[in-house]
Amino acid sequence: MGRLIVVSNRVPLPDKRGNLPAGGLAVAVHAALQERGGIWFGWSGKSVGSAEPGPVTTRDNGKISYVLTDLSKRDMDEYYSGFANRVLWPIFHCRLDLAEYARREKDGYFRVNRMFADRLLPLLEPDDTIWIHDYHLIPLAEELRRRGVKNRIGFFLHIPWPPADILFAMPIYDQILRGLSSYDLIGFQTDHDLDNYVSCLIREGEPGRAPGTPTAAESPAAATVEAYGRTFKAATFAIGIETADFAALASRSKGTATVRDMRASMGQRDLIIGVDRLDYSKGIPERISAFETFLHAYPERQGKVTLLQVAPSSRSDVPEYQQMQQAVEAQCGHVNGTLGQIDWTPIRYVNRSVGRSSLAGLYREARVGLVTPLRDGMNLVAKEYVAAQDPDDPGVLVLSRFAGAARELKGAVLCNPHDSEQTAQAIERALSMSIEERRERWRRMMDYLLAHDVKQWCRDFLHAL
Ligand code: ADP
Ligand code: F6P
Repeated sequence: MGRLIVVSNRVPLPDKRGNLPAGGLAVAVHAALQERGGIWFGWSGKSVGSAEPGPVTTRDNGKISYVLTDLSKRDMDEYYSGFANRVLWPIFHCRLDLAEYARREKDGYFRVNRMFADRLLPLLEPDDTIWIHDYHLIPLAEELRRRGVKNRIGFFLHIPWPPADILFAMPIYDQILRGLSSYDLIGFQTDHDLDNYVSCLIREGEPGRAPGTPTAAESPAAATVEAYGRTFKAATFAIGIETADFAALASRSKGTATVRDMRASMGQRDLIIGVDRLDYSKGIPERISAFETFLHAYPERQGKVTLLQVAPSSRSDVPEYQQMQQAVEAQCGHVNGTLGQIDWTPIRYVNRSVGRSSLAGLYREARVGLVTPLRDGMNLVAKEYVAAQDPDDPGVLVLSRFAGAARELKGAVLCNPHDSEQTAQAIERALSMSIEERRERWRRMMDYLLAHDVKQWCRDFLHAL
């Protein structure tokens, strides 16, 4: 078995003591790399301003080499903040209204993908397996093939794949579709994403071919695709978390200072928790509106329940994200100002990250996990909230039906985040649920998450590739 070569925009480097950064993907892929030996290639996280990026740097850690490239400010603006996060991200999340297409940024996206291919090429050996992650790097396989790479190359899309009418609104959608056909295996989070992708190919109609129809022998979650002169596989691999480790962390974290202080400051009040990057796809303004609707609809809950929204800034160079940050601050201020009491603040809004252990403990303290994205590839917060619960007294997950996780977490109370009255009812249903029903719903979800953890996801993908 050859080496594994992982490529992603961000590279989760271990710290000086060799500890891995938190997060399911980082842990699982590190485990696979450690087993087989290999390379994790990607952006160093550094911008070199107006200079051209220097040569790659390599950092070895056991059997893994981290090979990192810097980016220039122009690369960052055009490739990352521009095409990846102002065109692909909004379109793939069905936000055509927020997409800002510019030819210069598209050129930057393809330029950085070519640069990644040039820098990766000298590192490759013939029996390496290459695994490329996410929307930043869709054209990378095509660039590698152009340079003569014959290795098996897999791609996993962490975000949703949109319906054809939305994708086709993007001026260069055909280049994106064609680029994907250079992979041997394309992984999606859910069968909806796979269906959307296959429908795009069918609508595009390569003459003389019928791409994407699953054969009778295959499960509905996999398809053999013939398109653009190649035959390859597309399938679903729902990403999981390190369920058992996260549950253990949550049960240990009860004594941490953050959790103790939070509990003490809450008194007898119930805690509802929301944890997200500040991203418009997460539905944070809609969630705050739903919470306000809930407080009006159930006035007996006023003074007795608090929403803790932890939302660190994200992609702050992108104007839509800056606007959202201001809007969320104003909205929290409005709710607290109009409904708050001298000794009760309805919403506690924390605009930063919290450590993994505190996060696990806060999830466990919360009676309700409020996870209401407008659209989300998977949403790992939903899975973490479930894993963190006390089996004897679990909280209730209120989950948007538009999160990939809703396809799996059958014990959640589902809601439509666009309907604030329905979400308010879901919150009330969660808060008033009997202990028996809470335990039964939680057990169902926890058993599933234990059987489908992130290590399994990694194994399944690599096996299929
Ligand atoms: P996305 O990948 O779009 O950010 P996910 O919900 O799939 O969304 O994953 C987010 C990850 O980031 C989770 O592992 C979550 O614990 C972590 N995270 C999100 N917000 C915070 C925060 N405020 N503090 C610490 N970790 C966070
Ligand atoms: O889940 C999608 C994703 O883009 C991941 O690839 C990434 O780790 C995460 O969101 C955070 O985004 P960014 O790297 O832009 O901060």
